[in-house]
Amino acid sequence: MITAYEITLAEVADAAAIAVLSRDAIETGLSWRWTARRVLRSILDESTNVAVLRRDGQLQGFAIMRYGDEEAHISLFAVRASQRRIGLGSALLAWLEATAQVAGIRTIKLEARAGNAAAKSFYRRHGFTEAGLSPGYYEDVEDAVRMVKRWGPEG
Ligand SMILES: CC(C)(COP(=O)(O)OP(=O)(O)OC[C@H]1O[C@@H](n2cnc3c(N)ncnc32)[C@H](O)[C@@H]1OP(=O)(O)O)[C@@H](O)C(=O)NCCC(=O)NCCS
Repeated sequence: MITAYEITLAEVADAAAIAVLSRDAIETGLSWRWTARRVLRSILDESTNVAVLRRDGQLQGFAIMRYGDEEAHISLFAVRASQRRIGLGSALLAWLEATAQVAGIRTIKLEARAGNAAAKSFYRRHGFTEAGLSPGYYEDVEDAVRMVKRWGPEG
């Protein structure tokens, strides 16, 4: 079971570590698009939350979620490989869902690589359903599966 961890909004100084984790955990086999500069733009963007999860002061996971008027969109989400399957991803997702709910948002959408069985299983476990495929979404290397979670009266 997990021990102490904290989830907070990222600081400017986290941008480089987040970018490296994105490259290693998410963008494997693709161009490195989420560079430190792009992550920094998200940290500074008022419509985006960049959340980081730390254990013993070490960054072990992060998520980037954009807020629209009625929907939120998870752009990136990862837990360091050595720290998986102990509930950290679930804690981070719960944090994102809570912030969305506080903002009055009832829908979260995301895309995952169609071959990413772990991610699909993780999101299904948390109430997301598959809403279709986007062919060639990842640089024509791989399709995306679109996933969605809705809650509230029509959810
Ligand atoms: C997907 C990911 C974020 C899950 O994080 P995590 O901290 O390992 O998740 P949790 O420990 O909270 O897992 C919760 C549940 O999700 C499901 N799950 C998580 N990883 C799984 C895997 N590899 N295979 C099957 N089910 C999995 C399980 O039901 C798990 O519960 P259990 O451990 O009791 O069986 C992590 O594997 C990751 O960072 N992957 C690489 C990046 C990525 O794919 N990001 C998502 C798309 S952007």
